[in-house]
Amino acid sequence: MTGLFITLEGVDGAGKSSHVEWLADHFRKLGRRVTVTREPGGTPLGEKLREIVLHDAMHAETEALIMFAARREHIERVIRPVLARGDVIISDRFTDASFAYQCGGRGLDPAKLGELEAWVHGDLQPDLTLLFDVPGEIAQARLAHARAPDRFEQEKVDFHARVRAAYLDRARRYPERIQVIDGSGSLPEVREILLGVIGQP
Ligand code: TYD
Repeated sequence: MTGLFITLEGVDGAGKSSHVEWLADHFRKLGRRVTVTREPGGTPLGEKLREIVLHDAMHAETEALIMFAARREHIERVIRPVLARGDVIISDRFTDASFAYQCGGRGLDPAKLGELEAWVHGDLQPDLTLLFDVPGEIAQARLAHARAPDRFEQEKVDFHARVRAAYLDRARRYPERIQVIDGSGSLPEVREILLGVIGQP
């Protein structure tokens, strides 16, 4: 079996996290071993960095560098070993989130992030990225029910609109890798759409 690297992306409130475990079960039913992980995070050091980057005020470039520092560790300790065993790894966010949030949201130069991307994982890209897309009003309404918001969730509507636009731009650039999933329906409706993309078990 060859390893399979799947990432889930979308604005805060797009609903991707609701589908992670379901997706993992889907691949387990197909007889695959599955590791579920997330970014920022996924390793003990990465989870410490996550706490910092989600809650402490910092320069936008510091934020980007911490995302990639956590990612460097995650790739080394989790992602590559899982893929080398031929297993499936499903990550709740990866580098597309850096382009969407740090470039789209915060306005950093994508060329700079491109250099970080090449440095940290030039030869490694997800096999499939599921981009959960919802209109801003739906995402905001869902977030209103969430627990204490982090630094990103506290951002204004126009920040999230820029993040969404940057994600959709990535999807247009990498159509063979990124599948846009309409996340505005109910859980069963979105699962039907997902099954159309990943295939029935
Ligand atoms: P998120 O994945 O939404 O977790 P939860 O569902 O627990 O809130 O939170 C992670 C936040 O980090 C999210 O707002 C997007 C942000 N983020 C970036 O800004 N850049 C990145 O590279 C990554 C991986 C995440």
